[in-house]
Formats: sequence, structure tokens, C-alpha cells
Amino acid sequence: MNQDHLKQLAAHKALTFIYDKMKLGIGSGSTVAYFIEALKNQLKEKNWQIYASFSSEKSKQLASCQEIIHLDDSLETPLDLYIDGADEIDSNLFMIKGGGKALLREKLVCHASSNGMIVILDETKLSKKLGNHPLPIEIIPFGYKSTIRRIEDLGLKGSLRRNKEGKMDITDNGNYLFDLTFTSSIDDPIELHHKLKNLLGVVETGLFFHVAKKALVAMNDGSVRIYE
Ligand code: A5P
Repeated sequence: MNQDHLKQLAAHKALTFIYDKMKLGIGSGSTVAYFIEALKNQLKEKNWQIYASFSSEKSKQLASCQEIIHLDDSLETPLDLYIDGADEIDSNLFMIKGGGKALLREKLVCHASSNGMIVILDETKLSKKLGNHPLPIEIIPFGYKSTIRRIEDLGLKGSLRRNKEGKMDITDNGNYLFDLTFTSSIDDPIELHHKLKNLLGVVETGLFFHVAKKALVAMNDGSVRIYE
């Protein structure tokens, strides 16, 4: 089964967590795009309406329809649930996210959810220990070279994310991304997150922990396993 098909499977499974009038946080990325498409169909079919907050402008656009009422970006209203993909996940349901640039808003929307997050992904993203996928760090543009020096002083290596035209990639928040790469796995993701967050100029890291309640993992044999 190809990866797109697997992403679709996981996305469809997440529909079982949707109910009329719920307040839903919706993440970003290609798996979530499949989820939004399926969600729109389900809401129409059942004649349901939901309220939603989004972690990216792109997801917001994809979810434009009568059945999804967009909440404003203040995140004042607590959400019932957050559904999003991930780039890599371990057996503790700790994750690397931000491959699609949206990590900061993803974390904000995720933490606005009273019942945490349901992760939708395919089995290629399962990992014993995090560190196979680059770890995105959102940094502010002002003084970015000095911020990168502080990151590298921790013994870490990475590169600034650029777009196809070779220009600096900018997040929805107007920031840059520095993608850390590892030669071996990350020993202690929580400690690494806190070390990075303490650095001047770092806004947020793509390490997510203690937020995922379930992971719906589409397997190559066509089944969807639930990890919790
Ligand atoms: C977006 O910034 C990410 O955190 C996504 O959740 C992650 O990159 C998964 O994306 P795909 O569903 O496109 O693989």
C-alpha cells in the first residue's frame, strides 16, 4: 500500500471521534488534508455542524464549508479534541512535528484542547527512539545567526529551512525554521526541549510530549492500530 493510501486510512479512522456541535482543533499536513476532506463529507451526510480552530492558514482554507464554523484565533474557547499528524512518534507517544512548518500553532491549538490530541499517521513514522526525522526549531528572524550559534554551542547541528526558490522559508508567524539533524537518536527529548527553549531567540521546538492520548496508525496490511 502506498503512503498516501495509508494516510487516508488513518484520517478516516479519526472520524469516529467526531460528534455534532463539538469544538475541534485541526492540525496541518497532508494526512490532515485527507482528514478535512473526509470530515466535510461526514458532516454534510449527518447534517452536523462543528466549531474549529486551526493550526495553519492552509488547513483553515481547506476546511471552508458551511458545516465547519471557524473559531477566532485567540483560542479563548477550550476545545474538546485536537487531531493532527506527526513526522515521527515513539512508544511513549512523544513526537517530532513541524515538518510542514506549523509547529508553534500546532502546539498552541493542541494545548487548548481539554482532551489532548489524537495523532493520525502511517507506520513509516513509528520509531523506537526519536531522531530519525529532523527536529524543527522555530526561531525569530532578528538576530537569527546569533540564535543559531547558541543552538550549535549545545553541540547540535542543523540547517535553516529554505523554500524551493532557495529563499528563507517563513512560518505563518513570520519566523524562520532551523532543522536539527542527529547522527544518533535523541536520548532525552524532554530535556532537549527545555535546553532549546531556554535559548534566547528560540520560540518553540517541534518536540511534543504528554499530549497525545491515542495514535491511529495505518499499517501496511490495511489495518489501523490504536496506540495509547
Ligand atoms: C506540520 O507542521 C507537521 O507537524 C505535520 O503534522 C507533520 O509534518 C505530518 O505531515 P504529513 O501528514 O504531511 O506527513
